[in-house]
Amino acid sequence: GRAVKGADDIPAGLQALAPLLTGADALQRIATIRNDRTRLVCRGPSQSEPVFLHLDRYTTETAAGHKEEGCEVEVHAAPQAEQAALQMGMFLRNALGLAPIRQSKMGRCLAVIRGGLATPSAPKKVILDMDTGVDDALALSMALRSGCLDVLAVTAVGGNVPVSQVASNIAVVVAMVRGTSKTWRTKSVPRIAIGVEPGGGRRDASDVHGPDGIGGVTMRRDYQKWVRAARRLRPRQDAGRLVAELLQSHPVGEITLVTTGPLSNVADWIDKFPEAVIRLKAIIAMGGVFFDCGNRSPAAEFNIHADPTAARKVVEFCRAPVMERYVWRERVPLTFVGLDVTHRVTLLRSKVEQAAAKHGRGSGLARFVGHLTAHYMNFYRRNEGLDGCYLHDPLAIGYAINPTFCKAEQFHVEIEDKGEFTSGASVADYRPTRIFKDRGKEVTWVCYQVRASDFEAYFHRCLGL
Ligand code: BDR
Ligand code: CA
Repeated sequence: GRAVKGADDIPAGLQALAPLLTGADALQRIATIRNDRTRLVCRGPSQSEPVFLHLDRYTTETAAGHKEEGCEVEVHAAPQAEQAALQMGMFLRNALGLAPIRQSKMGRCLAVIRGGLATPSAPKKVILDMDTGVDDALALSMALRSGCLDVLAVTAVGGNVPVSQVASNIAVVVAMVRGTSKTWRTKSVPRIAIGVEPGGGRRDASDVHGPDGIGGVTMRRDYQKWVRAARRLRPRQDAGRLVAELLQSHPVGEITLVTTGPLSNVADWIDKFPEAVIRLKAIIAMGGVFFDCGNRSPAAEFNIHADPTAARKVVEFCRAPVMERYVWRERVPLTFVGLDVTHRVTLLRSKVEQAAAKHGRGSGLARFVGHLTAHYMNFYRRNEGLDGCYLHDPLAIGYAINPTFCKAEQFHVEIEDKGEFTSGASVADYRPTRIFKDRGKEVTWVCYQVRASDFEAYFHRCLGL
């Protein structure tokens, strides 16, 4: 097709549609999508109907200059040549290693546009809901140090350790980061509030994260200064009330909620303050596994396994349709940053040791990261031979800062909350079939690819490693 270069270049016919489509007087260019197609006709000696191959090379560029390129091959045939087309598809898959695409061109272009629009000049307002946890502590440190997020509140949910311990861990991390980051000292301190324990009484993960949930740092003599400083930040408010108050006092669609623990708090807020929750811009949840195996059970990831009933409630609440202007949309856009992507991003022990050596004994944060992660890294070394740890929760924060770190696609997602062996499984309907799918429910975003080394480099920079 012809590339549209600028707003003036938008064809007059389309301009005439502007008031209908947008309620505005003119269309504005937000992206240029270019598709160069080569069409091949393939016919075997005994074949009467040909198979057509469309070789597409497409580029998308947003008005802000954010670019992405890709290639794809489409196989087309008349019904009489269906067998030949299937064979051709199989050949392309096996001989050339081409992977089937689940997302439409429009879906991919929309993702680029979202990414391009998502580099805001002003920090994005967020509420973080965490079960702090070593990787939650890394995620919180990253959020506070990135400069890209305005962290209005951090709420505690039980999960890795009991909720009261989570709340004091959050306060210790905030005090520690605040005390060691010169640039951050002047900014306001996020409010901390305490939420609920997950229902269902599953065992916590203090075996993985250390007795206090943050690698035992709160028990070390040299950290008592921060433990004392944290006492002044201790939560004085219930998480639900604080979140409802913040959402009601900000414009609709301004605050994003990032969760890095079980979804028990969010389910509780949906019960108590649904009219506040629908004011969220989006929810980004570290949780679930959709195309791979779980970590807490073969089928389930820890955060969902800890409270599947809550996770199911959140998924169902968020996807309920709302009529806006002339189109339906989901009630709250929900994205899962699950193990499919978080198992691809790591922090290596050697990196932490290097940073500690480079900065010397006195350097606060690099030392803190070393002490914080040692126990957690020992677990991964014993468990799977990784001398480091996964950056599960930091990736959810990374996605909130810059969604182009991951590729996400919309699926119909369900959470299994009853199965004897599958409780907590997060199921995305990725069957290739169109006929059996429930299109109306294909609204939950699931991350399936990550730019791992770019994200890791960004994480290192944020933490000064
Ligand atoms: C999740 O489980 C927790 O233990 C981590 O903090 C992370 O949120 C990964 O499955
Ligand atoms: Ca967590």
